Amino acid sequence: MTTKRTILVTGGGSGIGRACAERLARDGCSVMVADRDVEGGQATVAAIAATGGDARFTALDVTDEASVIAAVNAAVAAYGRIDGAINSAGIPQTAQPVHALGADDWHRVLTVNLTGMFYCLKHQIAAMLETGGGAIVAISSAAALKGLLNSADYCASKAGILGLVRGAAVDYAEQGIRVNALLPGGSDTPLAHRSSASNPALAGTLRVPMMRMSSPAEIAAAAVWLVSPDSSYVTGASISVDGGMTIA
Ligand SMILES: NC(=O)c1ccc[n+]([C@@H]2O[C@H](COP(=O)([O-])OP(=O)(O)OC[C@H]3O[C@@H](n4cnc5c(N)ncnc54)[C@H](O)[C@@H]3O)[C@@H](O)[C@H]2O)c1
Repeated sequence: MTTKRTILVTGGGSGIGRACAERLARDGCSVMVADRDVEGGQATVAAIAATGGDARFTALDVTDEASVIAAVNAAVAAYGRIDGAINSAGIPQTAQPVHALGADDWHRVLTVNLTGMFYCLKHQIAAMLETGGGAIVAISSAAALKGLLNSADYCASKAGILGLVRGAAVDYAEQGIRVNALLPGGSDTPLAHRSSASNPALAGTLRVPMMRMSSPAEIAAAAVWLVSPDSSYVTGASISVDGGMTIA
C-alpha cells in the first residue's frame, strides 16, 4: 500500500488554489489548505470533506515569515510530512502606469507576490530536506513574460518568481526537490474579475488565440501534474497555461 501524498496549498481559499486543493483531494492526496481568508479556506475544506476527501485548514499570511513557518509546521504536525506544495496566494496589479505608481503599492504587490513566495519556498524546502524530497509549484503568470497595461508592479513580481524558481531548482536538484513555475493566462476567478474591473483598458490590449479564459480547474490540472511523480524529470521550468496568449 502506498502512503497518501500530503500537499500544502497556499491561497487555497479561492480561485486557482481552491481548484488545486479540490483536484488533489479527488486524486487521493491529503491537502493542507492555507490562506489569509479563513472563511474561504474553511469553505474549501468543507467542500472537499463533502465529497469524502481529506483536507484541513491553517491560517496563513505569506507576508509574515513566522506565519509561513507555522503553516508548514501545521501540515507536518497533521500529516507527518509534506510531499508537495502549490503556492497560489497572490494579489493583482494596482492598475497604475509606472509614473503614477506609489512606492507603497509597489512594495505591497512585491511583498505578497514575490517575498511571500520566497518565504514559502524557503520553509517548504526546509521541511522537504528533512524527509528526502518533494515538489513545489509557484504560481506565476503570463504577466511574467508579457508587458500588461498598467501592471508593471504585477509583471515585476511574477517575473521575479521565475528567477526565484530557477535558482531554487538548481540549489536542490540533487536533493530530490523539484521547483517549477506555472504561468496562467486569464482564469475565471475572483482575482481576475477584480483585476478587469480596476483595469478595464487591459482586456482590449490582449490577444488570446483560444478566445476565452481558462477555468481554474484547467490551471489546477497542470499544477497537480507538476507536484506528482509523473513530472519527475521536470525542474526549473516555466510552464504556460494561457490559451496561447504569450505566443500571440
Ligand atoms: N486568475 C487569473 O487570471 C490569474 C492569471 C495569472 C496568474 N494568476 C495567479 O494565480 C494565483 C491565484 O489567483 P486567483 O486568480 O485564484 O485569485 P483569488 O483572489 O481567487 O485567490 C487568491 C487567494 O490568495 C489569498 N491571499 C492573498 N494574499 C494572501 C496572503 N498575504 N497570505 C495568504 N493568502 C493570501 C487570497 O485570500 C485568496 O484566497 C495568484 O498568484 C495570481 O496572481 C491568476
